[in-house]
Amino acid sequence: MKKLAVIGAGNVGKVIGYALKKKGYQITGAVCRTDDSGKKAADLLGCPFYRQPELAAREAEIVFLTTPDRVIEDVCVLIAARGGFRKGQVVLHTSGAHSSNILSPARQEGAYALSFHPLQTFPALEEGLRSLPGTFFAVEGDEESFAAARDLVDALEGKMIFIPTEMKELYHAAACMACNYLVSLMDMALQCFVLMGIPAEKAFEALSPLIYSTLHNIKEIGPKKALTGPIARGDFPTIRSHLAKMEALLPELVPVYKQLGLYTAGLAVRKGALNEAEEKEFKTLLQGGFQSGR
Ligand SMILES: NC(=O)c1ccc[n+]([C@@H]2O[C@H](COP(=O)([O-])OP(=O)(O)OC[C@H]3O[C@@H](n4cnc5c(N)ncnc54)[C@H](OP(=O)(O)O)[C@@H]3O)[C@@H](O)[C@H]2O)c1
Repeated sequence: MKKLAVIGAGNVGKVIGYALKKKGYQITGAVCRTDDSGKKAADLLGCPFYRQPELAAREAEIVFLTTPDRVIEDVCVLIAARGGFRKGQVVLHTSGAHSSNILSPARQEGAYALSFHPLQTFPALEEGLRSLPGTFFAVEGDEESFAAARDLVDALEGKMIFIPTEMKELYHAAACMACNYLVSLMDMALQCFVLMGIPAEKAFEALSPLIYSTLHNIKEIGPKKALTGPIARGDFPTIRSHLAKMEALLPELVPVYKQLGLYTAGLAVRKGALNEAEEKEFKTLLQGGFQSGR
């Protein structure tokens, strides 16, 4: 039975800790910033609650540092200074933004550093547990920790991809675009519908078949072939009319619309749907050639 510590038993720590406990891992201790949250997590994970992270870490073979990104390094420094790490231990964090290098204080104690990022969103326990099977974990760090990473991923019923340490920021930028910026794009589309008097829930229902079939097409045939619409068709007057209406009603959406339009024109050229002269015309329109008249 593998022993693991959950330092930072919030959304991710509780979901992963709970799922691993169900698969036979023993949790040596839960640590939070506040006592209330720590005690609740310890109840859930069936383990002691510690105020000092080094006490939970010392007992464990695998130490999860699942605190917010901004304190991972400080917590790692603290545990190392208090003798919580040891040779051969695997110390991991689940941050998408940081590489395993922020765990160097653990490395200096002979532990193996691993970044173990679930490409998933965990808003709360139930939703997190539901979405865990099939989740990809992006792994990077000391090779000696990869066997433990494989065991964890198997126990979580996930899948694993390796990424180069020096590309971690690019990896995270991609994940932000695929998740957070998709949310923002959907919010922009919903705002337009709401302005027409269609409530947001109804609007999403109406847009859903379009959204899901687009995602399906991207998966099946890739973004280039999946691209349709006025830019790919070279319909300049249509884009001009979108801009005019948005300038009048939702001007805050116009800069994003223009930037994405410019990117889309480039994609349409790669697709072979637009020639370079047409792309140039779109560029003039979208780079500020449009006059709002205001
Ligand atoms: N949530 C997601 O969707 C998601 C997805 C992928 C990766 N991640 C990554 O997973 C990590 C955890 O994210 P999360 O969403 O689970 O965060 P979270 O829900 O805010 O939980 C963070 C936990 O860390 C505790 N904590 C804060 N400062 C601490 C300290 N100095 N010492 C010990 N514990 C401390 C908090 O305690 P209190 O409860 O007492 O404040 C809380 O329990 C982050 O690296 C994040 O980037 C998150």
